[in-house]
Amino acid sequence: SAASSVTVNGKTYPTDSWFNTPPKVLASIGRKLHLQNDHPVSITRQIIESMFPGPTFKAYNEFDPIVSTTENFDALGFPPDHPGRSKSDTYYINKDTLLRTHTSAHEAQLFRAAASDGYLISGDVYRRDEIDRSHYPVFHQLEGSRVWDRNAVPNGDVVAAIYADLARLPSHDVAVEDPNPPHHAERNPLQAEQGHTAAESEAVAAHLKRSLELMVVEIFLRAKAAAAKQDPNYVDEPLRVRWVEAYFPFTSPSWELEVYYAGDWLEVLGCGVTQQKILVDAGVPSKIGWAFGIGLERIAMLLFQIPDIRLFWSQDQRFLGQFAGVSENLDLLKRFVPFSKYPASKRDISFWLGRSTVSAAGGNDRAPVSVGDFHENDVMEIVRDVCGDTVEEVKLFDAFTHPKTGRRSMSYRINYRSLERTLTAKETNEMHRGVERALVEKLGVEIR
Ligand code: PHE
Repeated sequence: SAASSVTVNGKTYPTDSWFNTPPKVLASIGRKLHLQNDHPVSITRQIIESMFPGPTFKAYNEFDPIVSTTENFDALGFPPDHPGRSKSDTYYINKDTLLRTHTSAHEAQLFRAAASDGYLISGDVYRRDEIDRSHYPVFHQLEGSRVWDRNAVPNGDVVAAIYADLARLPSHDVAVEDPNPPHHAERNPLQAEQGHTAAESEAVAAHLKRSLELMVVEIFLRAKAAAAKQDPNYVDEPLRVRWVEAYFPFTSPSWELEVYYAGDWLEVLGCGVTQQKILVDAGVPSKIGWAFGIGLERIAMLLFQIPDIRLFWSQDQRFLGQFAGVSENLDLLKRFVPFSKYPASKRDISFWLGRSTVSAAGGNDRAPVSVGDFHENDVMEIVRDVCGDTVEEVKLFDAFTHPKTGRRSMSYRINYRSLERTLTAKETNEMHRGVERALVEKLGVEIR
């Protein structure tokens, strides 16, 4: 029946109690901003791809974002109780099918296919998340990986082969801070028992770090060139990057690369030495290698100085028109010049979680959400559902537990602001009342 299935991109999937993907999110499947000519997300992809040329690297940009839980989690070593699997963090179609949360979901299939020594995957990824100017439930990632086959290198010496490849990479003169040792007893133990040696791991890591430093240097050189072109008073600050120890279930050791930008260290990507188990399970035990994943919107916001992530979804020529011709010639890259910013209206909303002492009147057939079941992302989803892209930010500004009743109170401030026009007070009030009603109906909260 219609109620128990959903059709996306011409494919029909059965749904079950795990189905939690709202129509607006489903509708963004197929927009493919990463492939839209002259779109900043696509331009950013092109710049990164240019740093990993063929024939070593092969690019895959058309994988279906609807994948199995196996591909997205199990094949990558995510434990069964990993929080990323929860319905509050991930959009599911059914128990076994979800909207990929990262492009790593396609790693295993490409290892198995063994079509090249390196690959790049870009695509739309989906995460239930907060609402602010840098978070949106759909964004784009670019994944890269490089492998070497111990059985297909001169003298069977894969370590020497990797260092020889490293020696062929250009150098750069950017200050790199790398304060952490590559291994940590618990978080990043030596992987010898997994099937690769410390010397292999070190060689792979050295190649990985240089490759990604070169990528970041290229991005920021382009950002600076764009800034200098438009602003004669632009002062060039030397680029600083640093490696920070990180954890991912499918790489070890793992790092995040951070760039010093506008007075802050900013995380730009996650990466690491691919765990041998992943390659063994994909049927290529003789290979070793590295992988990284980078968020394209975050980089595009820096490159083009785009102030709000919602803009990427705009069809407004005042936005899109500013990037005309850049896909064809990356040297035309310019900073985005914001068009008028329309006024914001803030409205607050406060509610109690837990069972009401007064009977809930009218149409509330949902069990009230208990404190333990409350997930902030559900509030975010409801706001997006009612208001679409007209909300710039939702922020918790107060929370307390009533000393007598033990009930929990939450207060959120919603910042309404359209990117395209001025909202009238009447329509803001109506949207706000709509949010209140939906919170009561869907979460069973009691408005204070
Ligand atoms: N998939 C990871 C993420 O989304 C990033 C990553 C990719 C980390 C590849 C390591 C290797 O956070």
